[in-house]
Amino acid sequence: MMQISLGPYVITEADRDSIWEVVRINEETLPEHYTLQFYYDIYENFPEGFLIARLDGKAVGYIMNRIERGISSFGLNFVKKGHVVSIAVLEEHRKKGIGTVLLNTAMERMKKRGCDEVFLEVRVTNDEAIKLYEKLGFVKVRTIQYYYSDGEDAYVMARRL
Ligand SMILES: CC(C)(COP(=O)(O)OP(=O)(O)OC[C@H]1O[C@@H](n2cnc3c(N)ncnc32)[C@H](O)[C@@H]1OP(=O)(O)O)[C@@H](O)C(=O)NCCC(=O)NCCS
Repeated sequence: MMQISLGPYVITEADRDSIWEVVRINEETLPEHYTLQFYYDIYENFPEGFLIARLDGKAVGYIMNRIERGISSFGLNFVKKGHVVSIAVLEEHRKKGIGTVLLNTAMERMKKRGCDEVFLEVRVTNDEAIKLYEKLGFVKVRTIQYYYSDGEDAYVMARRL
């Protein structure tokens, strides 16, 4: 199993038994929640891209992604692409580089799986997240109006791998 150290934090792949810890972080940090089956489906689709950050064994952050096929964010060609479905770090552990390591590691794994590019949706007001994605080379490619259930718009952001 891969193990990346970041100061006192350790980033590893999730396993099926740790998905409940991801659900808990998601419920604490984001308004978008999913059924347990949804998490398992994501895990089955791309297990090596489902990552957890821990401090002393306790989960404090995660990223989960899907491998998809579709039209490129940058042209009209059909491509294999990674989709960042959800990323979150518990508030008290933010700004320590965990989000950066989670996303960079997930993108490496997408590339290994043959993805040409990666994309995600983000709330247009989520400045912290947008800044992180821009730092890692993502650009805004379009806006989806009323994407979120409360009516907020999303940017689709993407980059080549
Ligand atoms: C978006 C999110 C995942 C980022 O996680 P994070 O672990 O804080 O991300 P990082 O620490 O890698 O980077 C965030 C900032 O910390 C800075 N940083 C990184 N390492 C640092 C360190 N050792 N010391 C101080 N700052 C540091 C980064 O430079 C970045 O700041 P900047 O872009 O203003 O320069 C987190 O804010 C979050 O969980 N938000 C709520 C959920 C959410 O909105 N998810 C995205 C949905 S699309």
